[in-house]
Amino acid sequence: MTGYALDNSWAKAERRLSLLEQHLDPMTQRRLAALGVAGGAHCLEIGAGGGSVARWLADCVGQTGRVVATDINISLLKGLAADNVETIVHDILAGGPPGGPFDFVHARWLLHHLPDPEQAIRNMISVLRPGGWLMLEEVDFFPVHASDSETYTRFMVALTDNVVRASGRDCFWARALPAMVARQGLRSVAGEGDFSIIQGGSPTAEFFILTAEQMRERMVASGEITEARLDEAVGLLSSPDFWAFGGGGVAIWGQRTD
Ligand SMILES: C[S@@+](CC[C@H](N)C(=O)[O-])C[C@H]1O[C@@H](n2cnc3c(N)ncnc32)[C@H](O)[C@@H]1O
Repeated sequence: MTGYALDNSWAKAERRLSLLEQHLDPMTQRRLAALGVAGGAHCLEIGAGGGSVARWLADCVGQTGRVVATDINISLLKGLAADNVETIVHDILAGGPPGGPFDFVHARWLLHHLPDPEQAIRNMISVLRPGGWLMLEEVDFFPVHASDSETYTRFMVALTDNVVRASGRDCFWARALPAMVARQGLRSVAGEGDFSIIQGGSPTAEFFILTAEQMRERMVASGEITEARLDEAVGLLSSPDFWAFGGGGVAIWGQRTD
């Protein structure tokens, strides 16, 4: 039982995840290509969500390669059907997914939802072949504290706190990820960071508005934000005159040794 707060069966989940993909895919694709994903590779995409990364991987590896895409809810992965793609319902905290060993294992915006991210990382490494690459992409929302809008900052903290509540941590956790990956015995561990700049009315702003729509009751019930302030923040995120820093991306990768 993971307590995941943003069920993919929600009516607007597909739209919500497609907005996230639009924002993150260019960086993910660049990083995976730099690690050497190419024709013939066997890849595992964990917590595949709306499936854009798995779809891109399937194109890259071609008919001689293979992609396994897992999630606790694969309802949005139905369109992925292709000869070289398999979708599997799997909880990464339960162990390594079947179908390995893999040349590349990737997960994005997954670990911050999990009560034991380090166990999930160990499970991912267990299905890598020797020399295979693990690449993890997470988000740490520290840049939201740089906003001069208290309403926006409070909204983002209340939103992300409630999204990750079941993990027992908060959305300022990903700063711990590099050291966590580095202590797993991988070689060539390295990474990079980025942070997003959000304009009101943009696809990324809409992603946070939809996330708040799905989380609204929990956010207000937590006492971290009032309905009035939540609505005010949605107003800011809908206005093209509003600009703010969004989440800080943390990407980290390493290679299995034995
Ligand atoms: C924020 S979404 C990210 C989706 C996708 N990785 C992306 O970046 O576009 C998190 C995804 O992780 C899945 N998930 C949550 N807990 C999981 C678990 N324990 N094992 C596997 N997938 C999980 C959710 O169902 C959801 O699809």
